[in-house]
Amino acid sequence: MSHSVPHGGKLINRILRGKDRELAELKAKDLKKIKLNKRELSDLEMIAIGALSPLEGFMCKDDYHSVMDTMRLTNGLPWTLPVTLAVDEQTANSLSVKEEVALVDDEGNELAVMMVEEVFLHDKEKEALQVYKTDSQEHPGVKYLYEIGTHLIGGKIDLIHRPKHEDFIQYRLDPIDTRKVFQEKGWKRVVGFQTRNPIHRAHEYIQKTALEVVDGLMVHPLVGATKGDDISAEIRMRCYEALFENYYPKDRTFLAVFPAAMRYAGPREAIWHAICRKNYGCTHFIVGRDHAGVGNYYGTFDAQYIFDEFEDGELGIMPLFFEHTFYCKRCTSMASYKTCPHDSNEHIILSGTKVREMLRNGMTPPPEFSRPEVAKILIEAMSAKKE
Ligand code: ADX
Repeated sequence: MSHSVPHGGKLINRILRGKDRELAELKAKDLKKIKLNKRELSDLEMIAIGALSPLEGFMCKDDYHSVMDTMRLTNGLPWTLPVTLAVDEQTANSLSVKEEVALVDDEGNELAVMMVEEVFLHDKEKEALQVYKTDSQEHPGVKYLYEIGTHLIGGKIDLIHRPKHEDFIQYRLDPIDTRKVFQEKGWKRVVGFQTRNPIHRAHEYIQKTALEVVDGLMVHPLVGATKGDDISAEIRMRCYEALFENYYPKDRTFLAVFPAAMRYAGPREAIWHAICRKNYGCTHFIVGRDHAGVGNYYGTFDAQYIFDEFEDGELGIMPLFFEHTFYCKRCTSMASYKTCPHDSNEHIILSGTKVREMLRNGMTPPPEFSRPEVAKILIEAMSAKKE
């Protein structure tokens, strides 16, 4: 496999330019305004830049149900998560089909125009059970679902302005840009790495192990909305920068951000993460333990098993699966349950909760768990938060 083809065959571009943009900007002022939340803003931007190719807008009813029922769009292409725009009942009743609306941010800036193709019921119970595999509102994805509107509106979008960003500007590369970077670097086989957590040795190990068999590595931290107790994207990016500076080969590794919001949908989100990274030009994608999971809603390797539900080659990106990895004192190296024969009391494994507790108390986790440069950033961030 070399150079990935976007999902569905071509990279979608729904960004208006020139005269079209000027006209849309004028028109949008007089249209009904639909305010998007943080996740919807991320989705809007990702649709426009082609990160969600082949989607050209927010889903209509048939695609929405098809994705929930069959993990495919109505045209048969694999797709595992709904990408929808929710409104309340009153707004839903006020809209008519083929009406154009302006999609706006918190401050009322008109970012896009959408032609409403369909207004339909938000089937929250079905979505919770099919996508998240639970209807417990303790699950952050399900909680979000029950907080938003009772109806969905589907239709193609045309972007006038990007959602405002003040952070990570130099890392905000669109699929067209990352594809160009890979081409310029001469990387034919590129592995993508999704992450929403600070980087620890386990992450570094699986990234570098994957890099051994391809040409380049793109570390692609998710910087859209995450649940409140996840470490902020700003701090996570500082950790990545420290790691890249000190431990990563410059000509083989690349850091860019993924603007998506986290759904915590475990297995289905792993497929979606892989498809999006294919749109960014990756040929391979890392899936380790409990990918995109939260609490105990998914089995440790469910996010790997789900790849078997698709035909070989159908996803167009090769998943690289990793067992639970850790440092082994007997091996004196990073290892996994697959490669290490020693007893687990030789392994340095720290839970997220335990690490957070250590960092909060100003304690540095062992260097076998976390690089000291990373631990330092995390400790400083934790103590700044306490003040
Ligand atoms: S995620 O929600 O974005 O998946 P995280 O940033 O923790 O969370 O993980 C990023 C990737 O690294 C995922 O593919 C995950 O499965 C993998 N991973 C994290 N920790 C380990 C580990 N100790 N062993 C193997 N894989 C891991």
